[in-house]
Amino acid sequence: MDNGKIKHIGVFTSGGDSPGMNAALFGTAKVAEQHGIRVSGILKGYEGMIDGHFIPLESQQLQKTVHRGGTVLKTARSERFMALEGRQLAFKNLQDNDIDAVVAIGGDGTFKGLLAFSEICDIPFIGIPGTIDNDISGTDYTLGFDSAVNTAIENIDKIKDTAESHNRVFIVEVMGRDSGYIAIHSGLGVAADAILIPESGEDFLQLLKKVKDYKSEDGFIVVVSEGDELGAGLVASKIKEINSKVDLRITKLGHVQRGGNPSSLDRMLGIRLGSAAVRALLLGRRNAMVGVLDNQLSLTPFEQVVKQHQVNDELQELLKIFGT
Ligand code: F6P
Repeated sequence: MDNGKIKHIGVFTSGGDSPGMNAALFGTAKVAEQHGIRVSGILKGYEGMIDGHFIPLESQQLQKTVHRGGTVLKTARSERFMALEGRQLAFKNLQDNDIDAVVAIGGDGTFKGLLAFSEICDIPFIGIPGTIDNDISGTDYTLGFDSAVNTAIENIDKIKDTAESHNRVFIVEVMGRDSGYIAIHSGLGVAADAILIPESGEDFLQLLKKVKDYKSEDGFIVVVSEGDELGAGLVASKIKEINSKVDLRITKLGHVQRGGNPSSLDRMLGIRLGSAAVRALLLGRRNAMVGVLDNQLSLTPFEQVVKQHQVNDELQELLKIFGT
């Protein structure tokens, strides 16, 4: 399996941090070491690549971080990498550090960056999907999604207690950028009265019908994805228009969803994908992302990865049933 050519792997985390990234770093370093490959961490994603911030990494140190959220390599969204000059500098730094393969852990923006980079850089790259949004094609789940949903559920459960005590309507906004995955999973998990996602226009009409007849005799929970076309504020004012008697509050869960210890699923996913990334490089694969589809490891070219992972028909159907 070992093609004997790779001696030094660079690894970095980029974009929004997500629980499970440290487990992926551990998986990468452990398997690389098993094959006698040196590993360097590139700090702060593409920013560190441009600035030449590389540090030696060993699995022994990373083993202590698997249970921790965030990323020990730090992360950033890099404007400079979007310019050709930035990418040229990054390529030079990889060459100067004798890096002959790279593992990149990040989301949509990270993979778009890699696609542009591959036009000028011939070093093989393998990606690992790391984002709480679950908005990447080529994997059923991204690293951090499960933990973020668990955090959202834990917090919405608490909101339900107070909503029911006061017979209030709560609009809870969850993250997800343009994707409704966090909203659907957390909304169904707390048995919300309505779930609004960017991928559906009908969900709002269902909510209006339901809230019209709401008699303020119980709590009423609406989970809204931040990417929904209306947003929490407008949803709140429309509800008030339809039923002026409601006592309504808005809670935005925000970055609390990004932090915290990774769930068991995210730890496992991180270790599986980190290991798979090194094995893919050893097999001579490049410019593709490792993922898990139907619980089997998979490899998907970056061109396909950047197409948004669509909320599937089954989930859309559930949304119709449980949102009414
Ligand atoms: O992509 C992850 C994510 O948390 C999104 O859900 C959210 O829209 C965005 O990042 C927030 O970005 P930032 O941390 O840069 O404010």
